[in-house]
Amino acid sequence: MSGSFAPGRLLLGGDWSPEQWDPATWDEDVELLREVRANTVSLGIFSWSSLEPEEGRFETAWLDEVLDRLDMAGIGYFLSTPTASPPPWFSLAHPDALPVRPDGVRLTHGSRDTYAVSAPAYREASRRIARLLGERYGDRPGLRGWHLHNEYGTLDHGPHAARAFRAWLRARYGTVEALNRAWCTAFWSQGYSSFAEVEPPRATQYLPNPSQAIDFRRFSSDEMRAALREQREEIRAAGSQAPVTTNYMLPTWNHLEQWSWADELDVVSLDHYLDTAGPDAEAHVAYGSDLARSWSGGPWVLMEQNATGIKVDGRTLAKSPERMLRHSLGYIARGSQSSLFFQWRQSAGGAEQWHGALVPHAGRDSRAFRGVRRLGEVLESLAPVAALPEEGPLVEAEVGLLWHADGWWALETPDLPSAQLRYGEEQRATHRSFHRAGIPTDFVRPLADVSRYRLLVLTCQYPLSDAEVTWLEEYVEGGGHLVVTYLSGLADEHLHVATGGYPGRLRELLGVRGEEILPLPAREVVTLDDGTVAEEWTELLAATDAEVLARYTHADLAGLPAITRARRGAGTATYVSARWTQESRDTWLRAAAQELGIGPTLPGAAERGLEAVRRRGHGVDHLFLLHHGDRTVRVQAKGTDLVSGASAAPGLAVPAGGVAVLSLPPGTAARLLP
Ligand code: GLA
Repeated sequence: MSGSFAPGRLLLGGDWSPEQWDPATWDEDVELLREVRANTVSLGIFSWSSLEPEEGRFETAWLDEVLDRLDMAGIGYFLSTPTASPPPWFSLAHPDALPVRPDGVRLTHGSRDTYAVSAPAYREASRRIARLLGERYGDRPGLRGWHLHNEYGTLDHGPHAARAFRAWLRARYGTVEALNRAWCTAFWSQGYSSFAEVEPPRATQYLPNPSQAIDFRRFSSDEMRAALREQREEIRAAGSQAPVTTNYMLPTWNHLEQWSWADELDVVSLDHYLDTAGPDAEAHVAYGSDLARSWSGGPWVLMEQNATGIKVDGRTLAKSPERMLRHSLGYIARGSQSSLFFQWRQSAGGAEQWHGALVPHAGRDSRAFRGVRRLGEVLESLAPVAALPEEGPLVEAEVGLLWHADGWWALETPDLPSAQLRYGEEQRATHRSFHRAGIPTDFVRPLADVSRYRLLVLTCQYPLSDAEVTWLEEYVEGGGHLVVTYLSGLADEHLHVATGGYPGRLRELLGVRGEEILPLPAREVVTLDDGTVAEEWTELLAATDAEVLARYTHADLAGLPAITRARRGAGTATYVSARWTQESRDTWLRAAAQELGIGPTLPGAAERGLEAVRRRGHGVDHLFLLHHGDRTVRVQAKGTDLVSGASAAPGLAVPAGGVAVLSLPPGTAARLLP
């Protein structure tokens, strides 16, 4: 990962599928792209059957023509390897390369993402087409980067996966005895006598083995990463030095260990789809962006968002052009070098013909297209934002939030004390609290250097390895302030509960000993004696070596500790045994940050619906002001708004729904006028 993707300007455009249209439409598209000042498309993502209509017979003339048009028009492109969607001939020739579901059903072509990643025929065909594209297009002037595959994430439970899983397990555990210990196979008579007996988790009579389940998720991520690496190697062997990316996906599923994947990439890219049309959509933009920037270790690429709609419960709700603009800048404020969309021209046929687009079915004469034109103007005025700081982070954050794919996968294993807590939702809840307070956050990789974070929060990190426990202890000893929530540190990396009191892995660091985990019935809330309110999760807890910050007040937990704080070395370790409601989480975390002197980017802004994010640039800071509130606000600073050209020195009015991006000397303050 280079952490230095700097295309010289912000990228605007989207997935473009010329194979769905005739050459006259290509010409119109190029004109329209120019009209909105778009400078980038993503191409070839699902073009395998157009590029290789029969095994070994390649048809590239159409793509040559398309790229020639783009080059002539000065429009850049991410070129994809089309391996997310093998053509029917491939599946028919290699039925063993179709994925098998846990219930044993082998899927059939007819949609997309129908591949068994461990199947040799699939891997070979993928390498071949990657090599071909690399050789043919690797030095094209308009090539911004390689978009390898699309949203890796098809899990296969078939025979090829079984073979590869066994090899992975052998490498991880060495002996079958070690595997038996790690998976606690003595439970329910699952003891294996050889690796050959092990299968991927498949449909079985009752609950599956959780250790097997999490190892399969880890294996699948590693296996897909190996496939990605092979494609990258083919591209490099073909002589192309263009940056390499693959698009991650949020928020619905998570099949990748994002940090280790980022190590393979020149830049992380993210497809981000909102799941609420309410005010939380803005918090969600911030969440996706902070994750992507953190995974990338610097700038990143927003590869896809929806231009016009937000899908909620099967309905596509409106996203107005103004909101789309604010969201686009929300991503860019937090390190994206782009505002790219799925997709450029709305399809007239096929499975996603109702998905939003920059050129909607209605065509150029539409609110959506006018919105894109406006976005194009704004992004052009923000060109200087794309330049990177000479050193240091793009966004300075003093709060770190641990993100660990293991935590997500662990919470997807069945029969935990409560099935109500989803990893992604819990991370969002904590991130949302800081977002609502206007306090910037980074996500943090396990075992990373976290010395620059004054506050580190672990939300529902159920498994922790020995090394991770030591890492947390050292952080606190060294003066860090750690906050650990319920459902963290209960188990080791094999998902074995650490016995002797909860949360066993962190009991000493936190100075607590829990005896029982006591989820609350649905919709029941309880109040702690500091006034905060909890739902879903409580614990019967004793403070063995920690101060009690808040106690339960209900039923037989009345008077017992709920929130504790231990002093260790130069730092503190706080344990929150109850799951706060969102409002209580907001109140408590904001106060915890304030206590450490960690404040918002622009004091008073968040309360008025004004999102303020400072993105560091080359010798300059860019203060993004995105106004989601309903009354004009005024901001004063020694700088100029790049969008309107107005000086902010006398105070700049940002109207409700509006945006401004102030170019400021590094570190200079801005203030909200009353
Ligand atoms: C994903 C894919 C796109 C498209 C969009 C919209 O993120 O990458 O091809 O399917 O979702 O559903």
